[in-house]
Amino acid sequence: MHTTMNTLRAQWLRIAVHVGSLIPLAALIWDYFNNQLGANPIRDMTLRTGKTALILLMLSLACTPANTVFGFRQALKVRRALGLYAFLYAAIHLLVFAGLDYGFDLGLLQGAILEQRFVLVGLAAFLILVPLAVTSTKGWMKRLGQRWKTLHQWVYLAALLVIVHFVWLVKADTREPLMYGAVVVLLLVVRIPRIRQMVSNVRRRPRNKPDHLVIAKEAKHLPQ
Ligand code: HEM
Repeated sequence: MHTTMNTLRAQWLRIAVHVGSLIPLAALIWDYFNNQLGANPIRDMTLRTGKTALILLMLSLACTPANTVFGFRQALKVRRALGLYAFLYAAIHLLVFAGLDYGFDLGLLQGAILEQRFVLVGLAAFLILVPLAVTSTKGWMKRLGQRWKTLHQWVYLAALLVIVHFVWLVKADTREPLMYGAVVVLLLVVRIPRIRQMVSNVRRRPRNKPDHLVIAKEAKHLPQ
């Protein structure tokens, strides 16, 4: 009992991520088999999987800043799982579109890609996510070394393309996609080394202490 509690305490974030990421899928399957998907079930499935993919992608992007800005180290341990769940939902999203909506008809699909710009950018975002998901393992990380980091920075382009996808597909009110877009931009901005440094300096500065005391304390550690 004691060890179970300890494991739960140590692993709570991992457990929360797995459970939280699988709930939308379980709800979707439940609603599908219980005919609770609304008047247009295929559209409902497309929208739900697309939205979940975007949210999980953004959460995976938030893990590094959560560590650098707030010192929340545990977030780094769930970054990969969140990214892979985002990819899973994006893949289901694409399968629903290509399979259920277009019956895997390549001619029709080609027409949709060429005629609807939001489909084209969605596809581009998905194609970026494929190699990132494939190379997300420790083995690939070792094999690619420094190149792994460069490759995985493409995730920001994928996220921005998803925002463009979302903005272009809504007919009138672009407020919701733009709100998501603002968060993605903010997550990108806090990665800029100068900004990251500034933010983490503010965080490290002990509260309730006048600035000159903090500066004097820091000066002691500087090479004389
Ligand atoms: C080939 C790739 C893709 C295709 C064909 C596609 C297609 C679609 C379609 C048809 C819709 C619904 C449009 C409507 O009925 O109003 C949609 C919505 C959406 N898609 Fe995609 N998509 C693709 C890739 C992606 C990816 C990679 C993501 C995220 C990681 C994504 C996120 C979204 C979001 C957030 C919505 C809007 C959901 C909402 O309004 O609640 N899509 N997509």
